[in-house]
Amino acid sequence: MIELRTVTKKDVAGKRVLVRVDFNVPLEKSGDAVRVRDDRRLRAALPTIKLLRDAGARIILISHLGRPKDTVVPELSLAPIAQYLREKLDLPVTFSADYDNLPDEPIVLLENLRFYPEESNNDPAFAKRLAKLADIYVNEAFSSAHRKHASIIGIPEFLPSFAGLALTEEAEQLAKLLHKPRRPFIVVLGGAKISDKVGALTNLARIADLVLIGGAIANNFLSAEGFEIYRSFVEEASKKDAGDYVALAKQLIEEHKTEKVLKDNYIPLPKLLYPIDVIAASSLETTSDEELKTIDLSHDMEDKLEKTKLQYLDIGPKTRQLYSELLAGAGTVFWNGPMGVWENPLFAAGTKAIARAITTSRATTVLGGGDTIAAAHHFHAEHQFSYVSAAGGAALKFLGGEVLPGLKPLVIPS
Ligand code: 3PG
Repeated sequence: MIELRTVTKKDVAGKRVLVRVDFNVPLEKSGDAVRVRDDRRLRAALPTIKLLRDAGARIILISHLGRPKDTVVPELSLAPIAQYLREKLDLPVTFSADYDNLPDEPIVLLENLRFYPEESNNDPAFAKRLAKLADIYVNEAFSSAHRKHASIIGIPEFLPSFAGLALTEEAEQLAKLLHKPRRPFIVVLGGAKISDKVGALTNLARIADLVLIGGAIANNFLSAEGFEIYRSFVEEASKKDAGDYVALAKQLIEEHKTEKVLKDNYIPLPKLLYPIDVIAASSLETTSDEELKTIDLSHDMEDKLEKTKLQYLDIGPKTRQLYSELLAGAGTVFWNGPMGVWENPLFAAGTKAIARAITTSRATTVLGGGDTIAAAHHFHAEHQFSYVSAAGGAALKFLGGEVLPGLKPLVIPS
């Protein structure tokens, strides 16, 4: 397990400290005002900022926001974030669009790094220009640690570098899943797109005792096993990674075919489980429950004609029950990806049941990914998880077994 050089007061006392935060938060425009829809990532950086202030450090915060594609996009300015930090989180932050002549203030937030192509290109001159502003670099942006950008891997070439408190916590929590989960370790994966999850799914399937699949990614597994999925969403193979995700699902099913888990100590189940029934409708905007169909995949393969218009939009009641019973006995649970289109109440039962089953179990529970957090929040379950990871892509890469480029400069050599 990697050990990170976590920042302490002693390292930064009286110094100028450049802190890479991830203030990439969802914004909402109402008239001229910009509202922060979810401030979780802003609050996550506060303990490190407090440590630095207590040590008398001068703080320069740097972050990206959105994907402005290397040019200035006024809607993606970090100025409203500085205002939010001041007004809502009581942090005296001064905003500066000028990277070279900083205001003489204790905490400065610089403009969006991605307004400069040099950030994504990891231009050494740009990294050096930023490094010149400070004596010490702290990375408090786990959620960007998978990016080989100047502010992530370039600056540590020029400054003594440390891990922020939240970054360290995130790396430790996720590493525990990989290295010493309390067993049985159950992974619940859902959501629409399998492409982002291939690495995590493959690696976690090897480590976990059981993998429960739901959401649209289950359609890859159902398809691989020869079930009709009609008009259900299945992510197409992209040119970029040339992945055929149904073939990948087949390969995973094959790889884990002989590994069985025992339910109630006598019913053997495969380690990788996908839905045994689903809730289907012809559109995800359906508003009438009369248009819903519960399809039992083990028998109900007749009436093909009537079903040709259907999409599978949630796991069915039998799957909810089976998954919930299994989760009740878990020692550790990692959950990423909703079980259905929960934003429509007609397709929310699966996600709600799984959130409940996980949070009422006695397991150590880790929740990951923006959509899943939003769903757990909606069902008032978010605060009942042992740990909530807002890191999305970076967390999935870490759980896929990759050493994230942004963590490398922060590791204490063993
Ligand atoms: C995220 O939201 O996952 C991080 O802020 C990284 O953003 P990116 O995917 O645009 O690099």
